[in-house]
Amino acid sequence: MSDLGAELEALRARADDALRAAGTTEEVEAVRHALLGRSGELTVLMRGLGQADPDARPALGRLANEIRDHVQAALSARAEELAVGDLAARLQDEAIDMSAPGRPVRIGHLHPVQTLMRDLREVFHAFGFEVFEGPEIETEAYNFELLNIPPDHPARDLWDTLYVAEPGSIELGQPRPAADGTILRTHTSPVQVRAMQALDAPIRVITPGRCFRYEAVDASHASEFFQVEGLVVDRDTSLADLKGMLEEIARALYGRDVRTRFRPGYYPFTEPSVAFDIGCLVCGGSGCPACKRTGWMTILGAGMVHPEVLRNGGFDPEEFQGYAFGMGPDRMTMLRHGIGDIRLFFSADLRFGRQFAEGR
Ligand code: DAH
Repeated sequence: MSDLGAELEALRARADDALRAAGTTEEVEAVRHALLGRSGELTVLMRGLGQADPDARPALGRLANEIRDHVQAALSARAEELAVGDLAARLQDEAIDMSAPGRPVRIGHLHPVQTLMRDLREVFHAFGFEVFEGPEIETEAYNFELLNIPPDHPARDLWDTLYVAEPGSIELGQPRPAADGTILRTHTSPVQVRAMQALDAPIRVITPGRCFRYEAVDASHASEFFQVEGLVVDRDTSLADLKGMLEEIARALYGRDVRTRFRPGYYPFTEPSVAFDIGCLVCGGSGCPACKRTGWMTILGAGMVHPEVLRNGGFDPEEFQGYAFGMGPDRMTMLRHGIGDIRLFFSADLRFGRQFAEGR
């Protein structure tokens, strides 16, 4: 065999060795380059064929082509083998162990005020009340006038109001209340009138929601808080019904043994009006700072719906009566958990919030 023939045969053997040794697709590519590249070994040998003895040339040409085909096939085969191996290795690497225990997921929970409001919904639901919600952005008419609180009434001082500015007035440097009377509601009582206008008697609704006041914020005052209003309108509804209902509600919320009392109160939209107290949850009635040493805690205001308010809601006070009550879930939550500062509710401090992850 000619020298060139021997070199070709040797090259085949080296190519096979090199491919067997190639462990990655990159290494296979390097072998391809070294053999078949522009100045690769096989390329160079094949270029040398022209100088070979003319008699030996056809046989050498065939051998060279055969070896080139062999090398190309071997390159492809090895490349494919490795690619399959890579995939298998990746599948192995990235395999998910279905039997591994899950990582604990931190599940959130309700804010304690929301928990209390859900409890209220449940208790009232059991007494046949449905939820009727009204807008947080109200008008002075619903927030005041329709509730029998005229513009110059001193009771308006009780509801320090956040007014929405007249469009453009801030830009002019002269902010003034919107001419259409748009305000942030200072209580949920305006929903009484909205409910009466929307529903037929008998009405039995609670109206939970957020309220806003222009308050100097301190441990017991926030400029944003919740209220839950209750309204019943029907024929032959009496103050006795109101008393019985509130006593039952207090027992459902605070236990059968809770002590309760009614005191005279004043609200422009109820007549008569009452304040409803329960025996202090902290001291049990003997007197402590939490109840200002009275032994009692006021949990809501209530009364018989004022005839004027009934009329504003579209009901004839000669035919229909109603009672209403309003409570403060923030304060009730503070009483429930012995929380001393309402600002904690808005603090976004997770150390505070996590204490109320009931049952988790
Ligand atoms: N709206 C009153 C307030 O914000 C609470 C209230 C008192 C609501 C008596 C009532 C009620 O429905 O009858 O202080």
